[in-house]
Amino acid sequence: MAVLLVYISKCMTSTFCAAIHHHINLTPNGYIEPCCVWTKDDLDQEFKFTQLEEYKNSAQLKKFKQDLDSGIKLPQCRLCWRQEEIGQSSQRMMYNKWLTRDASKLTSVEFKLGNLCDLKCVMCNGENSSQISTEYKLHRQKFEKFDQIIMKPGYSNIFIKSQNTSDFNWPESEEFKSFTDLIKDDLKEIILTGGEPTIIPYVTRLLANLPNPENVRLTMITNANSTNTRLIEILKNFKHVNVTVSLEGVKDHNDMVRFNSDWNCVVENIHRYKELPNVSIKINHVLQAFSVTTLIPLIQWTQAQGLELRFTPLFSPLHLTLDSVPAERIQQFANELEEIDSPTAKIALEALKTHVFDPRLEMIRKQHIGLLDEIRKTKLSSLI
Ligand SMILES: C[S@@+](CC[C@H](N)C(=O)[O-])C[C@H]1O[C@@H](n2cnc3c(N)ncnc32)[C@H](O)[C@@H]1O
Ligand code: SF4
Repeated sequence: MAVLLVYISKCMTSTFCAAIHHHINLTPNGYIEPCCVWTKDDLDQEFKFTQLEEYKNSAQLKKFKQDLDSGIKLPQCRLCWRQEEIGQSSQRMMYNKWLTRDASKLTSVEFKLGNLCDLKCVMCNGENSSQISTEYKLHRQKFEKFDQIIMKPGYSNIFIKSQNTSDFNWPESEEFKSFTDLIKDDLKEIILTGGEPTIIPYVTRLLANLPNPENVRLTMITNANSTNTRLIEILKNFKHVNVTVSLEGVKDHNDMVRFNSDWNCVVENIHRYKELPNVSIKINHVLQAFSVTTLIPLIQWTQAQGLELRFTPLFSPLHLTLDSVPAERIQQFANELEEIDSPTAKIALEALKTHVFDPRLEMIRKQHIGLLDEIRKTKLSSLI
């Protein structure tokens, strides 16, 4: 009883996070992080998936738990604090609502099983997309020239991440099989992302080997560009599947920002998921500079389809955030949003309230987009 009371009092603190107790995020390089929005501090000790026991018993994790349980705002959780400060729902709040809390068990894992991807979305990076990594290597000289323009202390840019050449085949190792054997009986929630989970071959293998899929709630974050019939069959075995489809706009807007994407395939695949009885679908949009043009048609399309639309703030690079867009254009966007009768438009309007235009970010955005238009033969520059 005393233990239960201590636990309940911890949960009442405004910084409590169920993820630090019951969840881990596996990065595309096979490292363990407490969650997907954790901003690693340079001094943080790193643990590979092969070191799960060391991670769980580390003095570092104990300190993180203690701090969050007792009202201390860890700087590594800054993305959540920022969301909460502007009155929006944070990842922490989502975990607290959603995660199964069973003693001190690891009940939830986000799997990023490498960086294999069929797209090169403008706001993404090589650590998450094999296509972006390849494009960077193919045009290294041009990107390196651009790196020099934007390099500034404290400016973490996508191109440095894009040079990541580490091993992304770790999920086919015997060690990964041992890791999943260790955790699979306790799993109640799984998040699949990537890379692109519908084309990463290790995803179906992982799901097919779970002992009790009927007890597991699955979330799959996908670009919905590829069809994977074997995966669709496996999804039917799960308790519930939340398919989150990432869209940056409608039709050619989406195909341009999510480069290589084919809108007709995306719509067809959304219909395929809709037909499954245990699946619910949500749309996720990353609020970013292009949103000033692409978001309103997307709000209208999701309304017409009866689909829920959610937002993620852009983490990096800074020059693609809304702060790279001049105030007059933001005001015009706000006026257009005000005319739409939709709760989603109101949420987007709230996010605009913290807008601060930075002309340096605008200059860098124009250079970056100009470079991509030249390499990809796109017209991204015409979007803003
Ligand atoms: C890296 S993707 C991997 C899953 C899948 N390939 C997809 O695009 O949905 C996971 C999520 O991160 C989002 N994302 C990509 N770049 C981002 C950025 N710079 N900031 C915030 N979210 C981003 C994507 O839109 C997607 O919803
Ligand atoms: S589809 Fe997902 S992983 Fe691939 S480039 Fe786009 S955001 Fe990144």
